[in-house]
Amino acid sequence: MTAPELMAVLGPRLSNTKLIVVANREPYIHLKQTRPGRRGLLSFLGRRGPQTSMSWMRPASGLVTALDPVMRACGGTWIAHGSGSGDRDVVDARGRVAVPPDKPSYTLRRVWLTPEEEEGYYYGLSNNALWPLCHIAYARPEFDERDWKQYVRVNQRFADTVIDEIGSSRAIVFVQDYHFALLPQLVKQVRPDTIVCQFWHIPWPNSEAFRICPWGDQILDGLLGNDLLGFHIQYHCNNFFDTVDEGLEARIDREHFAVVRRGHRTYVKPFPISIDPEPWSKLPKKTTWEADIRQTRERLGVGKAKLIFGVDRLDYTKGIPERIKAFERMLEHHPAWRGRVTMLQVGAPSREHLQRYQSISDDVDLAVGAINERFGTVGWKPVIYLRQHHGPEDVAALYRAADVCVVSSLHDGMNLVAKEFIASRADLGGVLVLSRFTGAARDLREALDVNPFAVDEFAAVLHEALSMPIADQERRMRGLRLRVEEHTIYDWAANVIQAAWRMSEAAA
Ligand code: G6P
Repeated sequence: MTAPELMAVLGPRLSNTKLIVVANREPYIHLKQTRPGRRGLLSFLGRRGPQTSMSWMRPASGLVTALDPVMRACGGTWIAHGSGSGDRDVVDARGRVAVPPDKPSYTLRRVWLTPEEEEGYYYGLSNNALWPLCHIAYARPEFDERDWKQYVRVNQRFADTVIDEIGSSRAIVFVQDYHFALLPQLVKQVRPDTIVCQFWHIPWPNSEAFRICPWGDQILDGLLGNDLLGFHIQYHCNNFFDTVDEGLEARIDREHFAVVRRGHRTYVKPFPISIDPEPWSKLPKKTTWEADIRQTRERLGVGKAKLIFGVDRLDYTKGIPERIKAFERMLEHHPAWRGRVTMLQVGAPSREHLQRYQSISDDVDLAVGAINERFGTVGWKPVIYLRQHHGPEDVAALYRAADVCVVSSLHDGMNLVAKEFIASRADLGGVLVLSRFTGAARDLREALDVNPFAVDEFAAVLHEALSMPIADQERRMRGLRLRVEEHTIYDWAANVIQAAWRMSEAAA
């Protein structure tokens, strides 16, 4: 489905119903730069004080990549934490600004958080407790009562903002992710007439793992305020049913994929998320495929070497040190590749305030340093590591130049890098190496499957990927592209929103 097709499906319904998305991360961040004024005689002559300029950026977030195209197509309001240094300068009195900044098509409403709220709700409860609780990456969740209090408080503040935004309208509220487990119930209590649905973008663990959370019951209760709760895959839905079954007084209606608690029914279903493949498949204007790749390779200085590419947020769930170690092992086992292949790793700094994220960044530095020290020569650097955020155009050029793209998450709800790479390869070239612990691996069967925890196996898969004949690459890529083209982010949005509508009508 394309954006116009999504609008054709949802348009009639949305003509009299407001679409309100709630997500912690905002789709556009405004940044303010202040340059100091001129000094001395020049300053006297030029009469220049400090200069302020404003720019904006798109954050590194799979959630934003997925939802921004939907909001562009449907319009509506996205409520998010205003986290940029220039965010307050561009909004109206209610914290609203039209976005995308260069082509406005929907409204962003920013919620301001105090440093204490951000610390407890975002860094603490969301990312130091729920994130490691839901991902099996062997990082212990940290539960702190102070963080929980801020989480409760911020969920209430966002719920109040949603209620204000609904006003006297009919509305559908589409809540995103683990930052807002309590919000659905809070909204539903005040506005039972509103359709509330939520998508959980990360895995849901098995009930045994979830039980260690001290506020598990409150979290489940909050989520059961939804009319519909979506996960990427059926397995996460089943885990959720088991968790409710063991934790709460509720009736599980497995036949209809629902939980009934205090008379309210919440449907729980899988909706595998995707991307809009169209912008990824476009080449920049005035260039050819060959010229574009030549330029990218020249910029990187990789000569004729094959290119293995990875791009991730610097997060311990993404398996970045594991992939560098597997590459090192491959160079050990297959010395013929030395000098003939380069790994390019792009790492976008993320949640840097947390110790665990500082450690993963250090671990990647160490792993890169070790392999380059061990195998590097005057003319060849085995791993190029770019520790910075890259925009979609730059990433697309790197996808096109890559011989192999590696996604080696230790655990991942879906993983959209895999889908972006596929969408970028209209030439049918390139090999996708994909961790079996991603949601994406359930669909993308033609990828080379890998267990990132098994270093020798991983090294062998990298060798296989680098050695794959073109005809085989094309056969696999054709199958992969079919899957990404036939199930886009617009199909996902249409499925979730229509299901929420149908189910709330059935309940009425
Ligand atoms: C994951 C989460 C998103 C989040 C993104 C980036 O994809 O599911 O909710 O936006 O990571 O993380 P950040 O904490 O920077 O928003």
